[in-house]
Amino acid sequence: MKITMIGTGYVGLVTGTCFAEFGHHVTCVDKIEEKIAKLRDGIIPIYEPGLDALVRKNVNEKRLRFTTDLEAAVPDADAVFIAVGTPTSRRGDGYADLTYIYEASREIAPHLSGYTVIVDKSTVPVGTARQVHRIISEQNPDADFDVASNPEFLREGAAISDFMRPDRVVIGVDNERAEQVLRDIYKPLYLIETPIVCTTIETAELTKYAANAFLAVKISFINEIANVCEAVGADITALAKAIGMDGRIGSKFLHPGPGYGGSCFPKDTLALMRIVQEYGENVHIVQAAVEVNAAQKARMVKKIRDSLGGSEAGKTIGVLGLTFKPETDDMRESPSLSILPALFEKGAAIKAHDPKGIEEAKKYMPEGIQYVENAYEAAADADALVLMTEWNQYRALDMERIRDAMRQPVFVDLRNVYDPETMKNLGFKYTGVGRK
Ligand code: UDX
Repeated sequence: MKITMIGTGYVGLVTGTCFAEFGHHVTCVDKIEEKIAKLRDGIIPIYEPGLDALVRKNVNEKRLRFTTDLEAAVPDADAVFIAVGTPTSRRGDGYADLTYIYEASREIAPHLSGYTVIVDKSTVPVGTARQVHRIISEQNPDADFDVASNPEFLREGAAISDFMRPDRVVIGVDNERAEQVLRDIYKPLYLIETPIVCTTIETAELTKYAANAFLAVKISFINEIANVCEAVGADITALAKAIGMDGRIGSKFLHPGPGYGGSCFPKDTLALMRIVQEYGENVHIVQAAVEVNAAQKARMVKKIRDSLGGSEAGKTIGVLGLTFKPETDDMRESPSLSILPALFEKGAAIKAHDPKGIEEAKKYMPEGIQYVENAYEAAADADALVLMTEWNQYRALDMERIRDAMRQPVFVDLRNVYDPETMKNLGFKYTGVGRK
């Protein structure tokens, strides 16, 4: 099939490349000439494991190409996916900003030729697909098209395997013709028996928000229970294991930490709260999850401060990991962006390491934070070492070397990677999250 992907951000690039890998012919369109020029040269703007090799392979095999010429990319396509950004609105009201979606719709409309399915891939509020339909009909009353919703559930750092082996694919359509086009696009997944959940357009649009909000609630829940564990002297690791074994609860997303970040949970929880307000409804539980997440980040500042004896002023803090999760260079809404500036402003010197995120971090962190080459440099002469992001390379550090390099052996493990007993035996003053 012929697919055009509008937007070469995270979602557009991964989705377009994976569709090409399925065997479809994919044209990825973006307005930013420099980005397209780089993509043509095989330079990928984001770090996502396996993506560069997959782009190269599909470009070489002539199933994937990059262009700024939207006009030429639309007429031949069986499906045009809209995967442009939907950031939180600058008005600060939590709404998703749909400017780029509507702009793309207006630009696609005049070039449609033959039956085409326009697919919203970006996360958009309920009702957006209907708006896209209205815009295109107004611009091009003769166009033969349908609009569908096909939310993505990709996790950064695991996006390619999530795409190739999804738990399910959700397609929201309002007729069988559009459904058939989407089923044909996802046909390669039938071989591995991936369930395709076919719903109305509104249901598909809301499904994405509901899935992300549920996961955000689950994380905030376990973070709150971790705090209760600290208060009563219980252990969250054993507790999470025990409740997770209940099939109704499930063991995933029960890892306490410094709070969730990233491009989806913070943005989509706020957007959902705003959407339901318009309908006179509430999502109290989601609102609570958002509040708990903000409190969790603040609690981490206090945890680090307490580990330093009550004040960070004049102390040196080594930091392992800056990104919101491992295997990405994405700093969006990373807990480190609120935790480290809070300590820095109170007079702490900060030496941070991250395997991929330093360049991105520099854009958002206060000037004066020092960036180092590896974990051991972060530990050198530090009064405390904070494990912020659970990159694999921090999982088996030579702890004796770390201890000997530090001014005092204080280890704050915000991801519960290390065993408290072992760390204590090595002479560390160890603090985790929700552990005795
Ligand atoms: C998420 C959803 O998982 C994905 O389906 C959706 O399409 C986009 O948003 P992503 O943001 O890439 O994906 O990362 P994810 O692995 O879900 O983690 C999000 C945040 O939650 C991270 O900050 C992570 O550290 C945190 N988290 C996750 C926890 O603190 N504890 C957990 O148990 C799981």
